Amino acid sequence: MINYTPIAHTEEIPIGERKRIEINGLRITIFNIDHEYYAIKDTCPHKATAPLLRGKLDGLGIKCPNHGYRFDLKTGECNIDSIYNTRVFDVKVENNKVLINLD
Ligand code: FES
Repeated sequence: MINYTPIAHTEEIPIGERKRIEINGLRITIFNIDHEYYAIKDTCPHKATAPLLRGKLDGLGIKCPNHGYRFDLKTGECNIDSIYNTRVFDVKVENNKVLINLD
């Protein structure tokens, strides 16, 4: 069975907005793009310091604020090299709550 953890109310992340949470020692940023929510590990894997929270959206991707590597919000794939692919989390909404699967 898949376990989902509630991490925000939907009104905390309006369309076009993002929110970072910290849970189980992980920083995760959740994006709302046209009513769809995406969750990605917040720390850019390139230098392991930059927060993707401050990145620029590029379609369904986020560009790191430091060197501009792009990470697909659905898959975590990096456009520069697969060694930088990162972790994304399954998201669902129930009763106006945003839940993510941390497994
Ligand atoms: S630190 Fe993110 S692309 Fe370099």
